[in-house]
Amino acid sequence: MKKWCALFLVALGLVLISTGCNKSAEQTAADGKVIKVGEFASLTGKEATFGISSHEGTLLAIEELNNAGGVLGKKLDLITEDDLSKAGEPATVVNKLISRDGVVGVLGEVASSRSLEAAPICQQAQVPMISPSSTNPKVTETGDYIFRVCFIDPFQGTVMANFATKTLKAKKVAVFTDVKSDYSKGLAKFFKEGFTKAGGQIVAELDYNGGDKDFKAELTAIKAANPDAVFVPGYYTDVALICIQAKQLGLTVPLFGGDGWESDQLVKIGQDAVEGTYFSTHYAPDVATEKSKNFVAAYQKRWKNSDGSPKLPDAMAALGYDSAMILADAMKRAGTTDGPKVRDALAATKDFEGVTGKTTINEKRDATKSAVILQVKGGTFHFVETVNP
Ligand code: PHE
Repeated sequence: MKKWCALFLVALGLVLISTGCNKSAEQTAADGKVIKVGEFASLTGKEATFGISSHEGTLLAIEELNNAGGVLGKKLDLITEDDLSKAGEPATVVNKLISRDGVVGVLGEVASSRSLEAAPICQQAQVPMISPSSTNPKVTETGDYIFRVCFIDPFQGTVMANFATKTLKAKKVAVFTDVKSDYSKGLAKFFKEGFTKAGGQIVAELDYNGGDKDFKAELTAIKAANPDAVFVPGYYTDVALICIQAKQLGLTVPLFGGDGWESDQLVKIGQDAVEGTYFSTHYAPDVATEKSKNFVAAYQKRWKNSDGSPKLPDAMAALGYDSAMILADAMKRAGTTDGPKVRDALAATKDFEGVTGKTTINEKRDATKSAVILQVKGGTFHFVETVNP
């Protein structure tokens, strides 16, 4: 009897302790003992690998920061919303992050059109937003609360124009643009400017709508123009189908593009048809600075491929990681999470040593960074060269 009584008291004690713990966790959040950071990403839908990679890099940074004691004596709480890769969603979820959750900063998005949708909301609320990897110039032009930690497309377009001229030795190029994407339209424009300036000729300009499945009519017109190469500034799902259909039509000249190609899905969908293609992006795990080596090791420990093998970080993962670290660094320097002060600290970011190199925020709230060119070979991405600004 005594024994049962003792056991009962121990059990009761445990229940009380655990409910007590739950309460204090809730209170902690409510009392502002954590710093809430919002993230919006395409975790599902047409560009799911963008959002997943970006999120995995971002979360890894937040976890490392918390393990090292957090920021301003508080733990960071990353609140992530899926925008389904769909127009209209970014506005909805970012409004929620700001008004429902009261986040003090917003990280996202990868795709420029989706960053452009959310930026005015963050600007209006005076909540600093950092896009890790949107490259269209208009994103940060939205206002002084909007930052990015990557290069912009006037640079990326020039890099690929020079690559077409020098490495592909192309004199005539066709351009195939996704007119539903601000990224694609911008990059096409900057590429064309750079290529004609380098003495090249644009022999065909065709359009598609992201999500289309049949590109044969446009590719037939491109083939008829007899280009030396075809520039496709699109996202990986469409690009893979374009490469497959180009091959079927006997269009054998090189296809090449920008950072939107970067996804393991490019190869999974495109298979043989994407072999030998080239694209520019922000980061390659092969570029081994000390910071980057540690990041690759930590990322591979934390994240696995669907078959259980360690996952290699891509550009979105690395930039997601740096975006969270740069926000934390700004809050530390500001000594507060107050929007206007964090904004000022972000604007003053100088030589921040991240995994994608050094980040300095310029007067347009963009970063100046190197680009890398990768080639698809044997079903994986091979580092070709680094191009400095
Ligand atoms: N730069 C692309 C955009 O602005 C997004 C992207 C970044 C895609 C990095 C892949 C890698 O839309």
